[in-house]
Amino acid sequence: MNILVTGGLGFIGSHTVVELVSAGHTPIIVDDLVNSKLEVLNRIEKLTHVRPVFYELDLCEEEKLDMVFQAHPIDAVIHFAGLKAVGESVGKPLEYYSNNLGSTLSLLRRMVAHGVKNLIFSSSATVYGTPPSLPIKEDFPLGETTNPYGTSKAMIERILSDFCKANPDFNIALLRYFNPIGAHASGELGEDPNGIPNNLMPYVTQVVVGRRPYLTVFGDDYDTPDGTCIRDYIHVVDLAIGHVMTLKKLVQNPGLVIYNLGTGKGTSVFEVLEAFEKGTGVKVPYKVGPRRPGDLPRLYANCDKAFEELGYKATRTVEEACRDAYNFQKKNPNGIE
Ligand code: UFG
Repeated sequence: MNILVTGGLGFIGSHTVVELVSAGHTPIIVDDLVNSKLEVLNRIEKLTHVRPVFYELDLCEEEKLDMVFQAHPIDAVIHFAGLKAVGESVGKPLEYYSNNLGSTLSLLRRMVAHGVKNLIFSSSATVYGTPPSLPIKEDFPLGETTNPYGTSKAMIERILSDFCKANPDFNIALLRYFNPIGAHASGELGEDPNGIPNNLMPYVTQVVVGRRPYLTVFGDDYDTPDGTCIRDYIHVVDLAIGHVMTLKKLVQNPGLVIYNLGTGKGTSVFEVLEAFEKGTGVKVPYKVGPRRPGDLPRLYANCDKAFEELGYKATRTVEEACRDAYNFQKKNPNGIE
């Protein structure tokens, strides 16, 4: 199938493009390079021996986006593009709402105009807010989001579900990611954030290659076995494979479907640091600091639905993800240049 991949040069997008090619699909990439590098396209080519068609484009530029739909018969869209820094979104709400919502609306209008009826949307476990119990299931009520990034994901989910009701011949999958970490085993693709990393794993890898002196662990006084927060870390390659498996389901015309993509297993910050040392032989220098506002003590997924309906199960361990993330950072100490 021809798959339009928005944000296809980003962290999750690029890994998904590689898995799409190996499953025999033809990705067509649209990316505005705001938070990614053109060099990623060379890396994809090196890994897959295919150079996907690429358009440097902001999805809000609807006329230009229309030309992409005119140029290619597209079977499905995977929509990764969007601003994603939780902290930054608090200071720049208008940018986050206009970019993340505007790009999705423009994409939906072009899909309608060209009769493209299959869409996978990158959502986030953040839409659950504080869950009533654990593990988190897809039918839990949506919770209170605490920042414009998370709210933009929840709003887009709502828009897509209203849209699907009004257009029952459309098939839309909302994939709620837990915590993607790791990198391609080759070390060619990985997480390469602009500026100071917000997320745990890229911060850790920048510390161990000497770009930052130590990791600050945000609180060790939570009500968890070792006092640090627990998350469900999923290897980015497993996450990418989840998209390819969701595509198969979409073309069977299911309407709106929602899946958690996680592992079902909770891992604390201290356990991540242990896994890092085990997987790489390198100790991570850290200091314990205060809690980060908004962090919840425990979040992990129930992944039964994706297994039952898609046959999907994440198989890579946190230790493998640490090893792959370290390998990427060692090969690309200053990120992808
Ligand atoms: N952490 C640290 N030090 C750091 C960075 C993180 O101790 O420098 C801790 C956090 O306190 C948290 C854990 O590591 O306990 C994971 O933090 P991340 O920032 O990597 O991930 P979050 O769980 O906070 O956020 C992730 C995604 C968001 C998404 C959210 C959904 O990054 O996009 O999950 O639950 F909204």
